[in-house]
Amino acid sequence: MLNFGKAPSPIFGKCLSFMLFSSGAFSEVVLAQEKATGEMYAVKCIPKKALRGKESGIENEIAVLRKIKHENIVALEDIYESPTHLYLIMQLVSGGELFDRIVERGFYTEQDASALIKPVLDAVNYLHSLGIVHRDLKPENLLYYNPHEESKIMISDFGLSKMEGAANDIMSTACGTPGYVAPEVLAQKPYSKAVDCWSIGVIAYILLCGYPPFYDENDSKLFEQILRAEYEFDSPYWDDISDSAKDFISNLMQKDPEKRLTCEEALRHPWIAGDTALCKNIHESVSRQMKKNFAKAKWRVSDHFLSSFLQKEILH
Ligand SMILES: *[C@@H]1O[C@H](CO)[C@@H](O)[C@H](O)[C@H]1NC(C)=O
Repeated sequence: MLNFGKAPSPIFGKCLSFMLFSSGAFSEVVLAQEKATGEMYAVKCIPKKALRGKESGIENEIAVLRKIKHENIVALEDIYESPTHLYLIMQLVSGGELFDRIVERGFYTEQDASALIKPVLDAVNYLHSLGIVHRDLKPENLLYYNPHEESKIMISDFGLSKMEGAANDIMSTACGTPGYVAPEVLAQKPYSKAVDCWSIGVIAYILLCGYPPFYDENDSKLFEQILRAEYEFDSPYWDDISDSAKDFISNLMQKDPEKRLTCEEALRHPWIAGDTALCKNIHESVSRQMKKNFAKAKWRVSDHFLSSFLQKEILH
């Protein structure tokens, strides 16, 4: 029996199930408005039947999630439950996805990429200091807080590991998409915080060339590549990229988790903390590759979308 001591969502207008942002194997995320303030939130709706038998684990896990307070991490604001569902009320971010914004800009450099990776490292370092491993870091989970040009980047969508964390799930999410999971995860070895550092390395790789380090149409071949940590800094795409950037990535995408940089070490790497990231414009080739390799997200919560939705569906 889950007990969060609250009645089912009295403050929310309605749970708009047709406003599906995303639908995982176990849960869906919908948009909701707080009646008193008009504030919008993203609500993750988890059917309780998915949690059966794991209630005490989930309660502990949610207690930990509620402690997370970091400017680059989407906050869990509140929790409600109904007889059938658990609702996680999450801070709503409206600035769109990382890659979309890179494609849209006209000028983009290693320094920009370094400035994007730094807050991610900082946020994940914070999670690691609380003993939390994110385990599902990927570009789709990096969202801009708001549409402003100077918007900060936010890590979103924490899974509940008790519910979504089985190795099988990670294997299946990796299927057919560019892999962000560390070799030790695919090898089904015990894994730790270092898996997040690997994923940050993969994200940094893509930020500098626009294509994923591992790719094969055949999933079993893709998994083999990742298991062997078999990737290259291909010419001509990497010709103009600094050795420091390559060193940074190589030390994060290091097959042996023991030798991999921790977030703390990565934050001290000269490509992040120093001045080795180059200021040459690499927008043209990176954005061309990004457009080719990463299809546009199906659902994006742009301000325009939000405001037209609000007029049509909530205010009337
Ligand atoms: C994928 O690769 C594996 C190993 O090389 C091979 O056995 C399998 O037939 C391939 N599958 C497809 C669908 O091509």
